[in-house]
Formats: sequence, structure tokens, C-alpha cells
Amino acid sequence: MTLYIHWPFCLSKCLYCNFFSVPCENLAIDYAYWKERYINVLINFRREYYDLEEVTSIYFGGGTPSLMPTKFFDDILNTIRKFFKIATAPEITVEVNPSSVDAFKIKTLRSIDINRLSIGIQALHDNDLKTLGRRHSYLEAIEYLEMAGMYFDNVSIDLIYNRPGQILKNWENELVYALKLPIKHISLYELIIEPNTPLKKLIDSKQLPQQNQGSKFIEKTIEIAEAAEFKMYEISNFAKPGYEGRHNLSYWKYNNYCGIGPSSHSRIMKNNQKIAIEQIANNKKWLLWAKNPIFNEVVLSEDDVFKEKLIMGLRSKVGIFLDEFSETIKNKYSLLKKISNLLKNSYIMIDDNNIKLTKDGLLRLNLIIEYLVRE
Ligand SMILES: C[S@@+](CC[C@H](N)C(=O)[O-])C[C@H]1O[C@@H](n2cnc3c(N)ncnc32)[C@H](O)[C@@H]1O
Ligand code: SF4
Repeated sequence: MTLYIHWPFCLSKCLYCNFFSVPCENLAIDYAYWKERYINVLINFRREYYDLEEVTSIYFGGGTPSLMPTKFFDDILNTIRKFFKIATAPEITVEVNPSSVDAFKIKTLRSIDINRLSIGIQALHDNDLKTLGRRHSYLEAIEYLEMAGMYFDNVSIDLIYNRPGQILKNWENELVYALKLPIKHISLYELIIEPNTPLKKLIDSKQLPQQNQGSKFIEKTIEIAEAAEFKMYEISNFAKPGYEGRHNLSYWKYNNYCGIGPSSHSRIMKNNQKIAIEQIANNKKWLLWAKNPIFNEVVLSEDDVFKEKLIMGLRSKVGIFLDEFSETIKNKYSLLKKISNLLKNSYIMIDDNNIKLTKDGLLRLNLIIEYLVRE
């Protein structure tokens, strides 16, 4: 199983972002208080649900977890080590925003056994960084990346493409440059214009140009990344051999995961049923709840599990296995007929019962998922 710790603060909100986090530049955060609550929820989760399955990865995400003091990470990791069974050489990742770390912080993170950094660079152009509402410049991001490389072997970066008004040729040049940086992994996300974000308002009011057609960007992105020997293992994730993110892979395999922190989710097997647990996306309420946590369990139906497995598996190289689904599900969603249609159109490939999307299929990921989950 994997553990995810969500830190719900950022210095300020980026204009495109819909993840749950609260701007904290002017807040005095009581870290000791927060830490005590995280530890309490972890211990309670362990008591309620933990069946001694080995923890293979731990991921500090957010928000901006790199704002947390090193001692905070260390105490949470020590609690996990004390109460959970940890696999040999677990992957331990921290999401880092270049505006919130310095060399000392990077060095101390490595000294407490964190072994992977995921740096949110987003763009390699100062104008676009401004458009996205990022606080760092392109040069600052590169400096942090180089600093990270001094202490960490396993460094990943995030970039966002198809930004408002971005033309494909410019993105191609930027990507070619990015892939030469000292990194082992890269997450390349097509910009989603989320509802209720300042970016959406700027585009709707024509203060910013629209996005261009996405599929051309995705196609070129895959082609350029793979030519640079970053192999695609999920629609947005590319890695050098041996550096695929184990944490994300385990989501796509639909393994058990435990999320701790405001807005986090968990999926756990209990009494042979998959259950979902969501923690509240409100810091004040979460802190109150975390004092004496009672988890809000929802038992997922067979249909829910089918849909989640499909969504997780098909976007990645994990794929899906038809024999994991009951005859009822196969009949209800006419899976055999649909799979045969997708195969005829070369949108999927089947290898020893394992169904995966081809590149043509991946370019139509959402349409194919909609087609398969339609009754
Ligand atoms: C939760 S963020 C954490 C990273 C870190 N807080 C940072 O921004 O530096 C994870 C990644 O999701 C991506 N992301 C967030 N909102 C997005 C959006 N609307 N469209 C595409 N990608 C997005 C960004 O690349 C971001 O680095
Ligand atoms: S992209 Fe990262 S830094 Fe920006 S608001 Fe979202 S979580 Fe915070």
C-alpha cells in the first residue's frame, strides 16, 4: 500500500490551480499543532484499517509540502516507521515548489531519507510563468533544479503545456530543452482550465487568449519525450528506465492507498469490499475532526470499482484485465463487443488478457472511457 500526506497550504494560489490549498503568506501556521493532528489521524487509520501490508511508497503532496519544516517530515516519517510495516527501500517523494526551498532545505530533506523530489516548474518562460501566477522565474527554477541534483538522484519536474495562446512550435522547443535538464522523470500536463479559477475568468473575459487544439500538443509531446528516451508510462508521465514513479503506478494499479490531510482520499479493502474514505476539504474543520477522527467510509459498488479501475488502468501502461470483472459487469456494459470494436479501430492492444490503449487510443482516452462506462 502507499501513503499520501496532503499539506493544504501554498504561499499563494496559482491562477489555474484547483487543488485544495489555502494561501498562507500572511498566516501564522502552528506546525506543532498540525503535526500532532497528522500523527493522530495516521495512528487512528492504522488501528481501523491497517492489515500489515507493506508500505512501498510515501508521498508528501499538496498544496506546497516543501513549506513544511524538515522536522515535520521527520516526525511524520518516524511515526509511519513505528506504526506501519515499511518495504525495503521505499520511494519517499516530496512535491517542491521552487519558491519555497533553499539549498539547506533540500540537503536536510535528503538527510531524513526522502529520496525523490517532484519540482513544479510548469513553464520555462517568464511571461508564461506570470500568466500562470507562479512566483518564481524560469532561472530560479533551473537553479533549484541544479541544487536538487546535488543531493538527489531521483528528480522529477512538472511542466504544463497548451497554455493560453501557446503555439505548438514554441512548446516543442521548450520541451526539447526541458528534456536535457538533469532529471530522471517528467510529468507533462495539458493545462486544464478549471471552473472558478482566475485563469478561466481571464480567458472568458478575453484578457487572455484561448488554448489551442489539445490533441496535436499531446501527440507531439509523446513523440518528443520518447525520442529523448523518456518512456511514457502514463498519459502525462515519462521516465528514464528504472525511474517510473512507484507511487503513481500503485494508484493506476488500484492498490490500497491511504491519504491523510484535508481533502485527501483513501481506497482500502475491508471485509472483501473496496471502501473509499474522504477527509474534509476545510482546514479548520479537519483540525477539529483530526482530534478524534471517525472515518467517513463509503462502500464502493461493483460498478464503482469497475469504473475506477478502468479510469486508472487505461490511462497508464497498467491497463485492465477483463477477467477481473464479473459476468454481470461484462454483460451490463457489453464489454466484449466494445473491446472488439476498439481492437478493430486499433485503439487498444491485448496481450495475454491485459488490455491497454495504443497511442491512438491514448489520444482519445476520455472518449474511450466514456464509451466503455456507458450502459
Ligand atoms: C498539486 S500540484 C503540486 C506541485 C507544487 N505545489 C507546485 O505547484 O510547485 C501538482 C501538479 O499539478 C499540475 N496542475 C495543477 N493544476 C493544473 C491544471 N489546472 N492543469 C494542468 N496541470 C495542473 C501542476 O503541474 C502541478 O505541479
Ligand atoms: S500549483 Fe502547486 S503551488 Fe500552485 S496553487 Fe496549486 S498546489 Fe499551490
